[in-house]
Amino acid sequence: MSDVMIDVANVHKSYRMGRTDLHVLRGVRLTVRRGEFLAVAGASGSGKSTLLHVIGLLDRPDKGTLHINGESADDLSASARARMRRYDIGFVFQFYHLLGELNVLDNVQIAQMTGTGVFRWPGRARQARRDALKLLEMLGLGDRLKHRPKDLSGGERQRVAIARALINRPKVLLADEPTGNLDSATGGEILSVLKHFNTKDGQTLVLVTHDQRLAENADRIVRLTDGKLA
Ligand SMILES: Nc1ncnc2c1ncn2[C@@H]1O[C@H](COP(=O)(O)OP(=O)(O)O)[C@@H](O)[C@H]1O
Ligand SMILES: [Mg+2]
Repeated sequence: MSDVMIDVANVHKSYRMGRTDLHVLRGVRLTVRRGEFLAVAGASGSGKSTLLHVIGLLDRPDKGTLHINGESADDLSASARARMRRYDIGFVFQFYHLLGELNVLDNVQIAQMTGTGVFRWPGRARQARRDALKLLEMLGLGDRLKHRPKDLSGGERQRVAIARALINRPKVLLADEPTGNLDSATGGEILSVLKHFNTKDGQTLVLVTHDQRLAENADRIVRLTDGKLA
C-alpha cells in the first residue's frame, strides 16, 4: 500500500468567459500522504475551490493527471468516475448543501442508499441505520435526528454535512471553507471535529481556506498563487 493518497500532476483549468480564457490553474502539482491533514490556503478567487472540485471529481481538468489511492481518475468512464466519487471522496461545503426536505437522519441515510445501491439496500438497511445513528450520536446530533436543516444552527448543519460526507468511509475528505459561514467559536468546533477524524481514524483530510489562522491547524500548508502551489 503506497503512502500517497492523492497525486495531482500538471493540472490546468481555464474557464471560458466570452472571448477570453480565465486560466485559473496553471500546472498544479500536489501529493497528499495517506492520513495527512493538508491545508490549501490562498486568496479569494485564487482557484482553491476549482482545485478541490478537480480532486473530488466534481470537475475535470483541461490537462494533467489525478490519482486517488494509486488509481488513475483520468480515463475512467462516467460510471466508474461516479463510483470513485461515491466511495472514495467525501465533500463538505461552506454552505452545507443538505437536502432541505429531509431530516437529519435521512440526509445521512440518503448517502448510504446511493453508496449501497437499490438491490443491496434491503439487506443492509438495518445495519446502515445503526451506523448512521452511531455517527450522528458521536457528532452530538443524537437529539436532532428528526430536525430539518432549517431548524438547526449553522454548526449543527455542518456537523450533519460531515456525517453525510463520512458515512461511507471515504478515502479522502475534502472540505471547502467549512467554517466560512460560522462564527469563530462554532468554526473552532467544526475544526476540532474534522481534526478528530484525522487523528483518531487516520482520515486523509484536505481543507481549503482563505483564513491563514485556520490553515495553521493542518500538518502542512500549501498556498495557491498565480495558478500554482507553493
Ligand atoms: N464556473 C465558472 N465559470 C467562470 N469562472 C469561474 C467559474 N468558477 C470559478 N470561476 C472563476 O475562477 C476563479 C477561481 O475561482 P474559485 O476556484 O472559486 O476560487 P476560490 O475558491 O479560491 O475563491 C475566480 O476568479 C472565479 O470567478
Ligand atoms: Mg472557494
